[in-house]
Amino acid sequence: MERTWSLKDSQDLYLVSAWGKGYVGVNTAGHLVVRPDKSPGDEIDLLEVVDALREKRLFAPLLLRFSNLLTHRLREMHEAFAAAIAENEYRGRYLAVYPIKVNQQRSVVEEVYRYGADYRFGLEVGSKPELLAVMALADDAEPRLVVCNGFKDDDYIKTVTLAAKVGHSIVPVVEKPEELALILKYARVHGVRPRIGVRVKLASPGAGRWRESAGAKSKFGLFVSEVLELFSELRRCGMEDCLELLHCHAGSQLHDIRRIKDAVGELAHIYAELVSQGAENLHYLDVGGGLGVDYDGSQTNYPSSMNYTLEEYASEVVYRITSVCDEKGVPHPTIVTEAGRAIAAHQSVLIVNVLGRSGLDGFAVEEDLDAIASSAEEVAQPVLDLVEAARGLTERRVVECYHDTIQAYEQVLNLFSLGYLSLEWRGFAERVFWSTCARIRDVARGLPTKVEELTELNSILADTYFCNFSVFQSLPDSWAIDQLFPVVPIHRLDEKPSRQAVLADMTCDSDGKIDRFVGLRDISRTLPVHDLVEGEDYYLAIFLVGAYQETLGDLHNLFGDTNVVHLRLLEGNGWTLDEIVPGDTAAEVLSYLQYDVGQLVEQVAKSCRRAVDSGSITDIEAQEFTAYYRGELDGYTYLEPEEQ
Ligand SMILES: Cc1ncc(COP(=O)(O)O)c(C=O)c1O
Repeated sequence: MERTWSLKDSQDLYLVSAWGKGYVGVNTAGHLVVRPDKSPGDEIDLLEVVDALREKRLFAPLLLRFSNLLTHRLREMHEAFAAAIAENEYRGRYLAVYPIKVNQQRSVVEEVYRYGADYRFGLEVGSKPELLAVMALADDAEPRLVVCNGFKDDDYIKTVTLAAKVGHSIVPVVEKPEELALILKYARVHGVRPRIGVRVKLASPGAGRWRESAGAKSKFGLFVSEVLELFSELRRCGMEDCLELLHCHAGSQLHDIRRIKDAVGELAHIYAELVSQGAENLHYLDVGGGLGVDYDGSQTNYPSSMNYTLEEYASEVVYRITSVCDEKGVPHPTIVTEAGRAIAAHQSVLIVNVLGRSGLDGFAVEEDLDAIASSAEEVAQPVLDLVEAARGLTERRVVECYHDTIQAYEQVLNLFSLGYLSLEWRGFAERVFWSTCARIRDVARGLPTKVEELTELNSILADTYFCNFSVFQSLPDSWAIDQLFPVVPIHRLDEKPSRQAVLADMTCDSDGKIDRFVGLRDISRTLPVHDLVEGEDYYLAIFLVGAYQETLGDLHNLFGDTNVVHLRLLEGNGWTLDEIVPGDTAAEVLSYLQYDVGQLVEQVAKSCRRAVDSGSITDIEAQEFTAYYRGELDGYTYLEPEEQ
């Protein structure tokens, strides 16, 4: 007898503990929960949230952001470095700056800034508009560090200089040799002593998808010889004290700790040499971003994972810097990190509803195959071969039967293309083919040893679950760089999933799908899901989407921003909705593309008047249609449930 399915089975099947890192769990109702500060008692039931939002007529797709989770990530960063500093008897401090490009949404940046206050965490910008946003935000009496990366023109440097003049603790990082002249020019014009950072091109290669961010061919940074020239130039101007920060960035999602060790070690040596040569005010060592996220939970040296923990990262960074500084007898600098992904990824979860499914294993063969095989009626040979293969399926002959089935079906299709087979026989052959494939898959599943070529039937025959979202808007990295994101049903986890599916989005684009999932041993081509029940909603949650996805997303097919909801745990018990940001309406996305919405309505009203004049609709119908059109412009861009 098959044992009953347990909540733990679901938890293991979807590897929730592996990638969830304590932030995600399953409750006794079989629902997924988020534990924003990892404490098992303080959890938010995702189905409860979806139901509560539905009451407010806020429908999926929904992006849920968990404020306490962001706080928790910042605290973990601080604590990991505090422990490493104590362990290595490090005499400098640690500061994180949040690179806002990871998620520039106002509420996210504000929350990071607010929650990072206790640790004096600052911000990093990579462009002029990012700087303009941050300047208005970072207005503490005791200013916090703002690091300015990216290509800089006159206006960028002028803005940095003015920000410094009004009291911001702001350091522009020279990414190209010409930027130094601009910094010196605006410092002179506005009468400020500039604070200068410099990004160095490391020889240690980067790693992973963003390996080009480091190394001699990297887009940014100065060669070591150029750094030396920059320092000589400052010295010539009597401004060597202006060099305060040394920076590198070895790439994003560094999945192998060796890359971090190499990069930080090299950077520390450059720092120590510069200090020894007289850069005595060089006191920030900025190791850039790159701290990984274990998207697949495998804790391996695989691009969607990482073979180290946050604690190991902090320990390595602090240890490398300590040992180089001690060896060279230079002061321990303030260590700055620009980790973005690792801070922001966990805080957001995308919830999508499944609208329906299609599959290839539902074909039934009503006809009696024995009768067809022995029929007096003339049946084309490939059709008979297909029927024979179906009738002859046994465990022992399963592989042979699979080959025969494929060969016969190919011949059926050829015969049809040549005009020798009727549409009816082609339809019959289609049903026999797919139903035989499904039976072969089932027989193969029961075999004591796996047959490689038959296991591919699992993905070929997988269902397609149509989900209400756009990959291009909400998961651009899934489409663009095959980034894995964990996907799990938010309910029915006390029930064994009976089907395997790939997920298709709502865009009219065959790339709009997810067909790579987090799997136990490897990437899985299908996701275990529950059968859909008529009249019941089925929701999936897609995790770790808080970094890079929101602003990289685009308007393919004019699917706009989803509804966004900020949730916060309440002291004691329960949760509250902190902020609701309704998703784009159709009118909003059309206006982004320069449509004049008023004119559109006017145009439609005009067509209606013409139709009234020609007698095809009545006056009332014309009014109703125009009002309906206006209402649709104010509606969500995604599919919505019908009004009750
Ligand atoms: C200069 C710089 N700093 C920080 C980051 C953030 O990197 P991550 O999100 O991987 O931590 C990036 C991103 O590539 C970057 O280019």
